[in-house]
Amino acid sequence: MNTNRLSPAMEKALSDQMNKEIHASHTFLSYGIWADDKGYQGIANFLYRHAQEERNHSIKFMEYVLNRGGKPKVDAIPAPPDDPQSLTECFDNVFKHEVDNTTSIYKLVDRALDEKDWATWNFMQWFVQEQIEEETLAQDLIDKLKIAGGDQASNESLFTLDKALESAPNDVPLAQEATGDNP
Ligand SMILES: [Fe+2]
Ligand SMILES: [Fe+2]
Repeated sequence: MNTNRLSPAMEKALSDQMNKEIHASHTFLSYGIWADDKGYQGIANFLYRHAQEERNHSIKFMEYVLNRGGKPKVDAIPAPPDDPQSLTECFDNVFKHEVDNTTSIYKLVDRALDEKDWATWNFMQWFVQEQIEEETLAQDLIDKLKIAGGDQASNESLFTLDKALESAPNDVPLAQEATGDNP
């Protein structure tokens, strides 16, 4: 008896996303190593934590496919991109990577809708929300670096930025949680 509650195409798409999240994890790990080597330990710490979050996302896809009676497949993971040339390029690439991942998440939502696979549609809503947070987080990085002076930032302001990112929270509050008293 077939107990797989996912269509073959959906099973494959979710499994591909599991692998894509690992690629994101490796990318941020690799950027973290680049930052660490440059002496930006706070930025590196932030990127390492982000790498771990992406791994957690991968595990969620793995667990979901298994729970629905499917079997995810670990594929060869493409190499992470080359090291960035500057902090601006590093943070711009983090943002681009998140936007690219959001596109993949939306494609999965589209597929769930097409197949009327409401269980997967429901599961995917967590990721829709997560991507709002991750894009906001990446936008904040770009803004903070701009305020510090971008690639012309003084060592002093980069030191402050590096320290701030060491202890920056992994999540940003969502617009849904904002109130007049606490915008
Ligand atoms: Fe992710
Ligand atoms: Fe992400």
